Amino acid sequence: MRSISRSLNTSQILSILQAIAGQLDFRGVINAVSAEIRPLLPHDHLDVAMMSPDGTLVSAYETGLHTEWDADTTAAKPVAVSPIRDLFTGKVDHILTDDAQTDIRFHFEGAFSNPIFAANLRSRLHVPLKVESRVIGALSFSTQQIATYSISDVNAARIVADILSSYLFALQQSELAKKSEFQQVQAEARAEGLRIGALHLTEELENTRQAIGMDLHDQTLADLSRISRTLKRLIGRPSLRGSELQPVHEDVENCLRELRVIIDNAKPSVLQFFGLGQAIEAFLERCARSAASPLTYHLYDEAAPHLDDLPTSITIALYRIVQEAINNTVRHANASKIEVRITQQDEYLQIIVEDDGSGLSKLPGRRTGGLNNISTRASLIQAKLVTAARENGSGTRLEITLPNTDLTQRARSSISS
Ligand SMILES: Nc1ncnc2c1ncn2[C@@H]1O[C@H](COP(=O)(O)OP(=O)(O)OP(=O)(O)O)[C@@H](O)[C@H]1O
Ligand SMILES: [Mg+2]
Repeated sequence: MRSISRSLNTSQILSILQAIAGQLDFRGVINAVSAEIRPLLPHDHLDVAMMSPDGTLVSAYETGLHTEWDADTTAAKPVAVSPIRDLFTGKVDHILTDDAQTDIRFHFEGAFSNPIFAANLRSRLHVPLKVESRVIGALSFSTQQIATYSISDVNAARIVADILSSYLFALQQSELAKKSEFQQVQAEARAEGLRIGALHLTEELENTRQAIGMDLHDQTLADLSRISRTLKRLIGRPSLRGSELQPVHEDVENCLRELRVIIDNAKPSVLQFFGLGQAIEAFLERCARSAASPLTYHLYDEAAPHLDDLPTSITIALYRIVQEAINNTVRHANASKIEVRITQQDEYLQIIVEDDGSGLSKLPGRRTGGLNNISTRASLIQAKLVTAARENGSGTRLEITLPNTDLTQRARSSISS
């Protein structure tokens, strides 16, 4: 039944102002307004819909009947699919209907109008929220009865909207500021994490250099000195039999073998020559052979041809990550099985390393261990890293996901090991 003509007097305006004063979010405002305005503009559903500053998206905050429009239920939707898009775009100055279910203005192709039926909304009244003549959102009243509102209610609703507009605008600005401050803090934390991580990697590189220096000194130099002394002795001999050179040859062979191990540890040559899959397999094989207790391994490489296209710095980072995960399994997990799975989808490349061992009991407190290096390497190539217990509870699962976007640019900004 259509209501009698309604208008707002000064004391009602004042009580609305008092009710919203101190409300610190959209929902608080809408609840306060609903209670104040109900005697004047009856409603089963009241909502404030705010447009994003660029005017493309809209988020609704409602009270009364709960619908899918609410920001708690649905993410911001494009203005173009809002049943009241003409109000947001300024095409109309209000929308008034006796029955929204049959009013074709709400039901165009692609309109997000399902809540009208789901909540059985019939009478609807919508007015714009404006700041300096610019539409920033809409205030909407709805009931489940037909023909609740008249044109005079539009004026009352407009007064309420004018009271609310600046307050809602200020709330929106403060939320946006909070959000951007939060994003800035997050970005700074990420940058600081990367700085510390890169420092650790540099230290790791320095340690590796020192280790290579020591290996070369203790192993190769010692071998070569011994070979040199033997050769010197042999050179002094008047006659030399071939068999006398046999031990020297073996010494040289041993020296070469050791040297290869040192070089391979420094820069995985197998990675260079055969690619990521085979390098991982070779490493798995080596670890399984030297593990204290029997360890079986499986490599499922479902991405082989694509891996060749990866920039070297990314391949090395991925290899080092997998290498450390495998090392950890061998050293800490007491596992009987380890699996590495490499998969390639349109949008990402994923490597999973899984063992059936004791599992990560707690996150390590140390910021310099291998897991920390794994996480820094992942950040540097902008890959997502998840380290967790396996689904069945026993063992550890490390999952590294590299999105397939602009790999070259990522490679340029990453630090190769
Ligand atoms: N696969 C795993 N299974 C069981 N525990 C693990 C596994 N991986 C890591 N851990 C636990 O997490 C701890 C931290 O690992 P992290 O690689 O950071 O350091 P680390 O292996 O102890 O030393 P580093 O890697 O510096 O030589 C390990 O000491 C171990 O207790
Ligand atoms: Mg480790």
